[in-house]
Amino acid sequence: ALVESPPIRRLADWDPTRLESLAQDYGSPLYVLDLERVRENYRRLESAFPDAEILYAVKANALGDVLETLRAEGAGLECASAGEVERALAASESVAGNGATGANVHYTAVNPPARDLEWVVDAWEEYPDLTITVGAEDTIDRLEERGYDGRLCLRVNPGIGAGHHEKVQTGAAAKFGVPAERAVDVLADAASRGFDVVGIHAHVGSGVSSDQLDDHREFVSRMGDLARDVNKALEGDGGLEFVDVGGGFGVPYREEDQPLDLEAVGDATRDALGDVDARLTIEPGRYFVADAGVLLTAVNTVKEARDTLAVGVDAGMTALLRPAMYDAYHPIRNLTAAIEGEQYGASDNGGGRETVAQTIAGPICESGDVFCENRHLPVSERTDVLAIGNAGAYGYEMANQYNSRPRPASIVLEGEDVRLVRQRETLEDVTRLEREARDSEPSAN
Ligand code: LLP
Repeated sequence: ALVESPPIRRLADWDPTRLESLAQDYGSPLYVLDLERVRENYRRLESAFPDAEILYAVKANALGDVLETLRAEGAGLECASAGEVERALAASESVAGNGATGANVHYTAVNPPARDLEWVVDAWEEYPDLTITVGAEDTIDRLEERGYDGRLCLRVNPGIGAGHHEKVQTGAAAKFGVPAERAVDVLADAASRGFDVVGIHAHVGSGVSSDQLDDHREFVSRMGDLARDVNKALEGDGGLEFVDVGGGFGVPYREEDQPLDLEAVGDATRDALGDVDARLTIEPGRYFVADAGVLLTAVNTVKEARDTLAVGVDAGMTALLRPAMYDAYHPIRNLTAAIEGEQYGASDNGGGRETVAQTIAGPICESGDVFCENRHLPVSERTDVLAIGNAGAYGYEMANQYNSRPRPASIVLEGEDVRLVRQRETLEDVTRLEREARDSEPSAN
């Protein structure tokens, strides 16, 4: 397929007038997601990995509209919990109706709570083509105890990690996967116990950039070696159906970051796995949705601090946790200033406004609740609307109610259409479970 869309949508590519009026109409903070861009990202992945099975890692953005859009394009779905499997199956049903299947719906069980296993094994009775990926022999035993003998994939720990921050490097972390050197034995044992062994899986980490391509090469070459060994050992049982090399494809967050060379990643992966008798599977999350989303927030406070202009906004680390948790950089644009600039005929961000160093912070009582420190932007004024870019991945998903703060609303765009897809939480929502518990009978749950 010929893909003509640009490899990254920058914050400046969003129409400031449209975004600002969305914030007026729906209030702020507000998550905005462009489904057309999600589709374009899927097609770019398809063209770099033409023969691969492409799964979307639901955890990056679990909005039903995203899952339905990608399911309709032909993507599979990789799920990290029973809740995500439920969403994945619901999206499949809404796209395919009665013909919906669990094909290409994978549940990756990481230290799975019993409740999750029970839910997923129940779902498997209805969708027998679901795949469960396990990262521990314990999980295999627990599935067997529950009568599961369906499609089984083994997550291995390849001993090599990569990614944008140590907290998201999974490939060598003890909690993930069975050490690769034990994989053949574990899989042979599972096959002999009647499981339908279909794949091996590993995920090095999240936010892998082009300068980590050597790590990726080393990783896929280890997966190739392992896949050959497993195929030899499982010859009698038909061998592997797929080798899943996870996700992790990084996207640029800073202006100066170069987009990942997806073709190079695709080529490196094919070089390592091309001769393996099994299909290649990938499961990126961020790449599909990061640049399809922005978070809109309104300025409510502007003051001179000792060495910076301190700007307060209505979104905080409860709406977008990434800066506080990983020191992640997100581009920020003052939409109000940009619109003024257009009216003055100026091409830059600022219009007539001076550019000054600003620290932009939310309403949470933590000093880590900042989106940027001393960043040079057109001087903010109270009631300005700011857009925080690349908020489509791990934005709403990691939102929480710390400080009893309700989560933002979400809208999706599709061409000219705008749809509210998630209500803004209310104070009522924040206290609901506590009120319900008070009104309920005492129970062991
Ligand atoms: N597959 C598995 C098994 C994963 O654990 C993950 C992400 C993915 C696929 C998708 O990775 P992606 O393509 O999105 O990089 N909250 C962090 C990212 C955590 C990723 C966790 N696992 C962040 O905001 O950067």
